[in-house]
Amino acid sequence: MTEQKASKGTYYITTPIYYPSSKLHIGHTYCTVMADAMARFKRLSGYDVRFQTGTDEHGLKIMQKAREKGVTPQEYVDEVVAGIKDLWNTMEISYDDFVRTTQPRHVKRVQAIFNKMNEKGDIYKGKYEGWYCTPCESYWTESQLVNGCCPDCGRPVEWASEDAYFFRLSKYQDRVLKLLEDPDFLKPKERRNEMIEFVKQGLDDLCISRSSFDWGIQVPIDPNSVIYVWLDALTNYITTLGYPDDPEEFNKYWPADVHLVGKEIVRFHSVIWPAMLMSLDLPMPKHVMGHGWLLIDGGKMSKSKGNVVDPVFLIHRYGVDALKYFLLREYTFGQDGVYTNEVMLKRMNYDLANDLGNLLSRTVAMIEKYCGGIVPPAGTFDDIDEDLKKTALSVAPALEDHMNDFQFNLALEDIWVLVRRANKYIDEKMPWAMAKDPEKKEELDTCLHNLAEALRIISILLIPFMHTTSERMQEQLGLTGEKIRWDDAFSFEKMDGEKVTKGDPLFPRLDIDKELKELNEIQKKQMAEAKKKADKEAADVKLKPEIEFEDFDKIDLRVGTIMKAEKVEGADKLLKFRVRIGNEERQILSGVAEYFKPEELVGKKVIVVANLKPRKIRGEESQGMLIFADTGKKFELVTSSADDGSKVR
Ligand code: MSP
Repeated sequence: MTEQKASKGTYYITTPIYYPSSKLHIGHTYCTVMADAMARFKRLSGYDVRFQTGTDEHGLKIMQKAREKGVTPQEYVDEVVAGIKDLWNTMEISYDDFVRTTQPRHVKRVQAIFNKMNEKGDIYKGKYEGWYCTPCESYWTESQLVNGCCPDCGRPVEWASEDAYFFRLSKYQDRVLKLLEDPDFLKPKERRNEMIEFVKQGLDDLCISRSSFDWGIQVPIDPNSVIYVWLDALTNYITTLGYPDDPEEFNKYWPADVHLVGKEIVRFHSVIWPAMLMSLDLPMPKHVMGHGWLLIDGGKMSKSKGNVVDPVFLIHRYGVDALKYFLLREYTFGQDGVYTNEVMLKRMNYDLANDLGNLLSRTVAMIEKYCGGIVPPAGTFDDIDEDLKKTALSVAPALEDHMNDFQFNLALEDIWVLVRRANKYIDEKMPWAMAKDPEKKEELDTCLHNLAEALRIISILLIPFMHTTSERMQEQLGLTGEKIRWDDAFSFEKMDGEKVTKGDPLFPRLDIDKELKELNEIQKKQMAEAKKKADKEAADVKLKPEIEFEDFDKIDLRVGTIMKAEKVEGADKLLKFRVRIGNEERQILSGVAEYFKPEELVGKKVIVVANLKPRKIRGEESQGMLIFADTGKKFELVTSSADDGSKVR
């Protein structure tokens, strides 16, 4: 395939940089496959494309995973990232740059960016408190929690507090809102409306450093803190372009044309990232496109739940192109979609093996049989010929419109309108009957010529989605270089005299019932194993980094008696206690309201962290902390029969 000269300017598209916490699943594949199709489409239509993907390698979770495995975080990510690169290579993902946030080129530029934001007066030092979800590396406010748990992954959160640097996100609230009001910036509109509502509720300044662990990029002005993993990650889109020290590549490709992201990280890309760019006085990305999730059994497919489908397994069984086709054809951009083996197998069998595969093999076989393998010239067209030609010529413009709108499924449907029309054309024309009548030679030639033309156009338009299949079609159609440029999909007169050669079927025909049974069984086993692993990891992940004995010894634990317990108005999670410790009484607040009725706790003995610095929660002072056992699903009281005031050692 000859690409057109890049005459239309640049096109910079990115995927999220994935966490290399474990192997990627078909949900990640879905996003990358869309970005790849778009990058290929834009290259073919004459853009100088830069397609970037990569991995987001810092943060507490990765550090903990490495520790569990007994390796360094760098060793841990190196291994997982090698697997991710293998996956993209197997899938023939045409990325131009793969960024790893541990690369020196990224690290030094993130620090320079931090300094610039600081010089601008947008960074200050403060204290951070909030509900922290370790697996998601996210702090949440009380009101964002769902049933007291992380709104993203549904896991329990824990109260965390630390000295930290803050980014003045609130300063950019009005400008971000204005940006979101431009209907072109964030799509689809459901995401845009959500974000507008979110920003209208007011933006708090953002905590952008962590001091409780060290697997991250050091804050350039503070050796004891690392930069918050999201600030580190978001800047990948410009650090790889050389910002801020190398303006050439940066000016060539920035602003990005599209950040393609899953809907759960739209907030980071359409609110926080623009505010950071505003702080740096840089232009905004042109579009943020938020895609929906692949669901399985009603829930989001996700590593932490173990309900994941392995793309490598599917590729080995059905091939790269069949999987890409299914992902791009089945789901509507922006909406969630349910993954099922049955729908996948039907798409592969009916659309690919039957409709497309048959059209090619029937046409090539007839050209070989009736015309010695040489595509004959066309004669006069009747209405049916005209209709086929009209359909063929309408596909490319329709497809371009759908692609520019990220409607991959409709773009493929455009091609299949022609595939189905051409199959119907064969049934209507019955070339095998014409072949018996020498007077119909011209009609037969016209028919086979037109079918070859339709297939040529189909083979070109398929390149962004399934380029290997497209090449295999072109091989059988005898097409090379000159006649398969993107622009050639807009004309209907290129096939005269080409030599066709029958090849293997494009896609094998599947016995769906049998295949489905086998596939379901294999996947059930795979998922059970993945779930077991994820559950084990979930339990392990809560282990915090080691501390010294001296650190532990600073904690004064005492037995206390709950004298009074009541709800806190306006805070669903909180209970307020009066706790007697020896001859002293304290007020202590705990986020356990959903697990206990206040009255059932009165009179109970509890363990109290007695020397925790008092702090305000929801305007009320809490003078200590009660200890509970967190099972992951509920909290249980940790109690003692000793007199209150007793030390717990
Ligand atoms: N590291 C961050 C992104 C930083 S970008 C500056 C992150 N990584 S991730 O590994 O969790 O990948 C998230 C992305 O993977 C989603 O935004 C989405 O594109 C894709 N998907 C993960 N699970 C998915 C589904 N179940 N369905 C569809 N896409 C999914 O967030």
